[in-house]
Amino acid sequence: MTIIEAKNLTYTYPGVTKPSIIDVSIKIAKGEFVLITGPSGCGKTTLCRCFNGLIPHFYQGELKGEITVAGLKVVETPIHKLATHVGLVFQNPENQLFALSVEKDVAFGLENFGVAREEMRKRVDWALKLTGMWDLRERAPHELSGGQQQRVAIASVLAMQPEVIVLDEPTSFLDPLGAKKIFEVIYELNRKLGITIVLVEHRLDLTSKYTDHIVVMDEGKVVLDGEPREILSSEEARLIGVGIPKATRLYQILQKDGKIKLGNTIPLCSNEMAFMLREVLKS
Ligand SMILES: Nc1ncnc2c1ncn2[C@@H]1O[C@H](COP(=O)(O)OP(=O)(O)OP(=O)(O)O)[C@@H](O)[C@H]1O
Ligand SMILES: [Mg+2]
Repeated sequence: MTIIEAKNLTYTYPGVTKPSIIDVSIKIAKGEFVLITGPSGCGKTTLCRCFNGLIPHFYQGELKGEITVAGLKVVETPIHKLATHVGLVFQNPENQLFALSVEKDVAFGLENFGVAREEMRKRVDWALKLTGMWDLRERAPHELSGGQQQRVAIASVLAMQPEVIVLDEPTSFLDPLGAKKIFEVIYELNRKLGITIVLVEHRLDLTSKYTDHIVVMDEGKVVLDGEPREILSSEEARLIGVGIPKATRLYQILQKDGKIKLGNTIPLCSNEMAFMLREVLKS
């Protein structure tokens, strides 16, 4: 079942002439973990804004084509209604947290929707536990580390129980270990709860192994769209400057060299590469 579908989507911000996304057509299936990547300025954030209705309801400008999310036409659906289906997590967690405590922040969205007290308590506790923030629920957000703040931002979105969570470079302010922990939380939400994940990311070394669908954008257009192993081993991806995982590069180098006979499944992470090398060394 398709949960997000864009058809020939072209969008131009107000006051500029050049469109920021051009003729984008993509389909995202329910339950997928999708990675959107591509060079800076290629339109990734702009596309995410179309998924949750910020475009065209907050950013005016000119939108052409069609965009449907969870069966709703984005153009005809108000942002607050879309927010119950698709949650957006931004780059910088500080911009999303404002309440006096972690739990108040997570409850904030629900209060706005008039969710009953009892139900609210249940959902807030559930979201805090899933993101590993339960023990810190009474802390002030500004006392937390960047990684912890980002987990609170994810919990806030999660409490709304959306079918889709869109994360726009959620770890760019975090160190590699903090980033890894965030990706693990996201992956669990995808695997255990079946939430569709759309992750914008350029650190593919850390994230490729979680994804089953990659979209590569360049200059406002979708240039590659499909199976991660195929895309990450393609010459086009390398030329656009997609951050190919080190394990995938190593595999390509060894394949080209031809001295070691490797299996056919292209590895996306060092564990897969290690497994492959062990198999070769055994024989
Ligand atoms: N509010 C805005 N008004 C006008 N132009 C904008 C606005 N926001 C983004 N743009 C332009 O749209 C294009 C795409 O920007 P966008 O932020 O979507 O790219 P991106 O792929 O998310 O980049 P990055 O990797 O740096 O986050 C850029 O040329 C950018 O300058
Ligand atoms: Mg961006």
